[in-house]
Amino acid sequence: MPPQFDDHFRATLADLFVWRRDVRHFRSDPLPLSLIQELLALACMAPSVGFSQPWRWVMVDDPDRRAAIVANFKQANHRALGQLDGARAALYARLKLAGLIEAPVHLAVFVDPKTEVGSGLGCGTMPEMLPYSAVCAVHTLWLAARARGIGLGWVSILDPRQVLQELDVPDHWRLVAYLCLGYAEDEQDQPELEREGWAVRQPPENVLVQR
Ligand SMILES: Cc1cc2nc3c(=O)[nH]c(=O)nc-3n(C[C@H](O)[C@H](O)[C@H](O)COP(=O)(O)O)c2cc1C
Repeated sequence: MPPQFDDHFRATLADLFVWRRDVRHFRSDPLPLSLIQELLALACMAPSVGFSQPWRWVMVDDPDRRAAIVANFKQANHRALGQLDGARAALYARLKLAGLIEAPVHLAVFVDPKTEVGSGLGCGTMPEMLPYSAVCAVHTLWLAARARGIGLGWVSILDPRQVLQELDVPDHWRLVAYLCLGYAEDEQDQPELEREGWAVRQPPENVLVQR
């Protein structure tokens, strides 16, 4: 029998969407490995083009590799700051854009563009469907984590080619996301970038075009 999703479930699910946050302020208490495994099993339920399941997960525990990622982030963040001027640059410099040092778990997510699973179905016209599939898995992981009181922060201010070397993964993999996971220092129903005055939530009617 398929489950029945009732009004109570739908309201709780809406709360999950509202209270999912990109987290950059972590407590450093460890997360049990069994919990990470449970989250990954749920993330792997995500949809994928041609059922290719092209996501590849790398848990980064080695302190030297983590330190290399932190250095990579610092360099990339410095370069990003250099492209801004005036008040925008000053605001950017104040933002905390990663919790790499405090987060107990680092999880790098790659796509394997050469996967033979799914025999290329659906990728002929739009090969980017493979990385998009990996993004679906990241979002599933994000929500599953939040539902367990675990915060996730997505770090994209990185040189992706350097990450391939730093984590010693196959050359043809492509970085999709570098994730920090752990318990959040606090819970918020508003994006941190909105609270810091960087951007505001756009109403749906601003982003809907009808033809
Ligand atoms: C593809 C992607 C890349 C992101 N990269 C970063 C990042 O490098 N650093 C960061 O602080 N947040 C990053 N974020 C988080 C966004 O800033 C965040 O989702 C947005 O501000 C809305 O906040 P919320 O996720 O709490 O709703 C990223 C999010 C996505 C979806």
